[in-house]
Amino acid sequence: MKISAVDLFCGVGGLTYGMQRGGIPVAAGVDVDRSCQYPYEANNDADFVLQDVTTLTAKSLRKLFGGADYRVLVGCAPCQPFSSYSHGLSQKRDARWSLLDAFGNLVSEVKPDVVSMENVIELATQPICRRFLKTLRRAGYKVSVHRVRCADFGVPQTRRRLVVLASLHGEVKLQKGTSATKTVREAIGGLERIEAGESSKRDRLHCSASLSSINLARIRASKPGGTWRDWDVSIVARCHLKKTGRSFKSVYGRMKWTEPSPTITTQFFKFGTGRFGHPEQDRALSLREGAILQTFPKRYRFSRRGDVIAFQNLGRLIGNAVPVKLGEAIGRSILAHLKKIDETAGGRLSPKKGKKRR
Ligand SMILES: C[S@@+](CC[C@H](N)C(=O)[O-])C[C@H]1O[C@@H](n2cnc3c(N)ncnc32)[C@H](O)[C@@H]1O
Repeated sequence: MKISAVDLFCGVGGLTYGMQRGGIPVAAGVDVDRSCQYPYEANNDADFVLQDVTTLTAKSLRKLFGGADYRVLVGCAPCQPFSSYSHGLSQKRDARWSLLDAFGNLVSEVKPDVVSMENVIELATQPICRRFLKTLRRAGYKVSVHRVRCADFGVPQTRRRLVVLASLHGEVKLQKGTSATKTVREAIGGLERIEAGESSKRDRLHCSASLSSINLARIRASKPGGTWRDWDVSIVARCHLKKTGRSFKSVYGRMKWTEPSPTITTQFFKFGTGRFGHPEQDRALSLREGAILQTFPKRYRFSRRGDVIAFQNLGRLIGNAVPVKLGEAIGRSILAHLKKIDETAGGRLSPKKGKKRR
């Protein structure tokens, strides 16, 4: 049983890496951002295709799958237009809305055996999501929609995500995770101590952004799980003193060792953009710590030796990734499904077995 997957909007490869660990070989990932190529190819046995998904033709996609018995198409289109961090008006103007339509059109034309789509939970209520699901059902897929807590899959975050699974051969059951990493301490407790603005000699990615003197004073005054309300009024940001700013409690916070981290966003390396302060060191999370909380392995390579570490870009790529352990559960679920249908049908369900796939 030869399976081949293609990952649309592959980024640095969180989903691809997880799918491969779950037993699904990924032939290629497609993304429009050139800076994803190195991390994607350095850590995954898959080709990186630098292309806009809206210009990817059915013919090229078929080619990427090669001559597999079962074809799996997965993808996580950019989440920002739908995310709770965006606001209504900008959503409607954002051209990235249409990317899910491009994904749906490719499914209709190529008819891969299995499809999976992952995104922010807010997407579920959007008309574009309903359109995507309708496209799949019309094309003959059995579709299931899951709102998941990533912690149930061994991801030590409070992150919640939407996972769509669809197959031409019946329901794909979403399997639970196998790992028990639940807290910040279990995930990053063993990492070398570093200061704000410092980088580890052993691992260049274990580096944290420098802090201004006011932010240093603020983090020193912060308790794990606390808020800026614990600080002396002299260091509280002026906007928080206004009536309108008093409700913003989830910024400038330290994480707790004994709990999962908050959702790792694209800004997790900054103290001030969320509860991203280290539980006991006076700094924000390092890039490596963010990647580990996203369940990337400790040695995942994000940049070439000698490249300057660009916090903004790497933070975006890491924060945007599908947590590896969620990807692994998706991969295991698809593998179990394909094995079952292949066994039940003695291989006959593979639609074009024996024939050359176009
Ligand atoms: C949410 S991220 C995907 C994360 C990835 N699945 C992972 O696990 O690391 C969305 C990706 O879509 C890419 N993207 C945005 N517009 C695109 C387009 N038109 N064609 C292809 N990729 C696009 C971005 O560069 C970004 O890497």
